[in-house]
Amino acid sequence: MIILAIETSCDDTGIALLKIKTKKAKGKSELKILSNVVSSQVKLHAKYGGVWPFLAQREHKKNLPIVFEKARKEAKNPKVDLIAATSGPGLEPCLWSGVNFANHLAAKLMRPIIPVNHVEAHIIANFIGDIGSKILNLKSLFPAVCLVVSGGHTQLILMKDIGKYKILGETRDDAAGECFDKTARILGLGYPGGPAIAAQAAKFKIENLKFKIKLPRPMIHHKNYDFSFSGLKTAVFYDYKTREPEIRKSKDYIREMAKEIQQSIIDVLIAKTLKVAKDFKAKNIILGGGVAANEKLRREFKRLSLKEKLTLLMPAKEFCTDNAVMIAAAAYFNWLKGKKGLKEIKADANLRIR
Ligand code: KG4
Ligand code: ZN
Repeated sequence: MIILAIETSCDDTGIALLKIKTKKAKGKSELKILSNVVSSQVKLHAKYGGVWPFLAQREHKKNLPIVFEKARKEAKNPKVDLIAATSGPGLEPCLWSGVNFANHLAAKLMRPIIPVNHVEAHIIANFIGDIGSKILNLKSLFPAVCLVVSGGHTQLILMKDIGKYKILGETRDDAAGECFDKTARILGLGYPGGPAIAAQAAKFKIENLKFKIKLPRPMIHHKNYDFSFSGLKTAVFYDYKTREPEIRKSKDYIREMAKEIQQSIIDVLIAKTLKVAKDFKAKNIILGGGVAANEKLRREFKRLSLKEKLTLLMPAKEFCTDNAVMIAAAAYFNWLKGKKGLKEIKADANLRIR
């Protein structure tokens, strides 16, 4: 079976072609990526320090036919069996550009189309690769705690099976990735902020600790599983504003601040995820989303999983940030679970995983 998937929920235009071979004898599937094209709008949005939905939509419309041709050529123009597209959550105008393109294609090729939840796809990104053996072991994974952390989402989700989710907590204001992006902007580090903050934090050396910056760990001791990151951004802003201009431009200040921002976000994410794991007796942690590409976060979750005897799944870094391979994989798993292909789909900016 060949799946063509389209992702346009935010600022990346992604199209992937995926070939799934089912080995009946072993009940396994093998997933082969035929092509995976992501056209990033980073340069455009870097100018504004964030994503402007209608600007992004215009770019998607322009990019989609180009990305489609490239993906098709790389995959050697195979016959497509199923079309998949992100239907939500995401930026409404951006979602519609992908959904309309997918609906058109489905009509033209006379193929069914499956709508995909973007948050679920970030979770399923963990099963890209040797899917087959993972499918067999999947039962032992549940219940799992999923932490989806990206520019648009920060959610803790209890996963009972593929297709069975319960949101336990989420951010009340900014998402974790958004906090990286906004604080990077304050520090003048550009967009996207996550990799920029991580790069500065990696250069920090403890012997250069000069400012003893201490940021809050918002809601870390609250009894619920919610997050709040806007106060962290405000704390960074006020610390920055009170420093002398030559101090706040200095390497030492930027590095120490970046390290503290990153650590504060990681501390909260770790504490809340562990709380869910304990409260729900989940033995497995599943990460997903752009922020899960953060090297320090990955190391700390690894350490936590060893200490607490939890298994940990993290997508390969390239599949943490938005891509269409995860959309194809999510469509495949949903199709395996009996989800029917449709003639046409709709976008829903506020779609929630359940
Ligand atoms: O999943 P994603 O590509 O898009 C959304 O669904 O939002 O995530 C993008 C977010 C951005 O906020 C970006 O700053 C953050 O992920 N990000 C990172 C890293 N790489 C991307 N944050 C921290 N460390 C990274 N290495
Ligand atoms: Zn995403």
